[in-house]
Amino acid sequence: MTTVTAQSHPNIAFIKYWGDRDASLHIPSNGSISMNLEGLSTHTQVTFDPGLPEDRLALNRHISKGPALQRVSAMLDRVRQMTGLNLFAQVTSSNNFPTGTGIASSASAFAALALAASSAAGLTLDECDLSRLARTGSGSACRSVPGGFVEWQTGSDDEDSYAFSIAPPDYWDLVDCVAILSKKHKPVGSKEGHQSAGSSPLQEARLADAPRRLDICRRTILERDFDALAEIVEQDCNMMHAVMMTSLPGLFYWEPATLAVMQAVLEWRKAGLPVCYTIDAGSNVHVLCLASVADRVDQNLREIEGVQEVLIARPGGPARLEYS
Ligand code: DP6
Repeated sequence: MTTVTAQSHPNIAFIKYWGDRDASLHIPSNGSISMNLEGLSTHTQVTFDPGLPEDRLALNRHISKGPALQRVSAMLDRVRQMTGLNLFAQVTSSNNFPTGTGIASSASAFAALALAASSAAGLTLDECDLSRLARTGSGSACRSVPGGFVEWQTGSDDEDSYAFSIAPPDYWDLVDCVAILSKKHKPVGSKEGHQSAGSSPLQEARLADAPRRLDICRRTILERDFDALAEIVEQDCNMMHAVMMTSLPGLFYWEPATLAVMQAVLEWRKAGLPVCYTIDAGSNVHVLCLASVADRVDQNLREIEGVQEVLIARPGGPARLEYS
């Protein structure tokens, strides 16, 4: 009986994944680009145990059943299929950041689980196969497997839809100041959101334009061109939220303070501060800036009404095993 622990970081998408080509395998309708978030992490321990009558999950020190356990079991089933192992597992996982609030906890959760479960079952997967396995748990999890700045190529099937690093964490001193506005669990999960994306007449245009946004984003990272990055990141975020709002039913993740932070960020940039915003499927605002101004941005954000807390994250490394 081997116990394996893995750690991984959530990631913030600069170019967003929204909508699936194949929902069951999480093959996305468009490619995406993200940055791993150092300092925020998920630790997951997996033990395949002959004494267990079923898979068990403890999440943030609470026993978890229902849909969360089913998703975890589905990934364990894949690992069991890959290895022929016929044992149930105890999975114990915890996050050091609020779960389900637009900080992609499912991304770090399934990246860490893919690594811990495959290793505990005796597999040594390369980064590409690990990214593919993580993707089957949660799409964006495939981007938490490689380190630093990461691109997820759409691919056409399970084989070629995976993520790879486009620049290491120390390539660019970017900081994500996450303005926490609410710690409530989001009302509509991204699974339902991906399913309804196609009901918005704007989704088709968003997808058609995705290669342009991906090219610009990749180039601005490689050239460390903050102003151009800021423009494309905000445009991509606005396009995804326009699709969300115009889907059937309409999805509104923003709180009044979300818009207040967005407007403040635009003003600060106009005044010369290298800063921009992006928002996932939640109300919190990820405020990206150069490290040289992170303290000031952190302070400014705390002065906005409705901002409960600010988490600071630099570019993070890949998912990795932990040895005790
Ligand atoms: C808005 O990867 O969480 O954060 O595959 O259903 O688990 P599932 O969805 P998920 O979707 C992420 C949506 C997003 C944008 C992004 O991270 O690219």
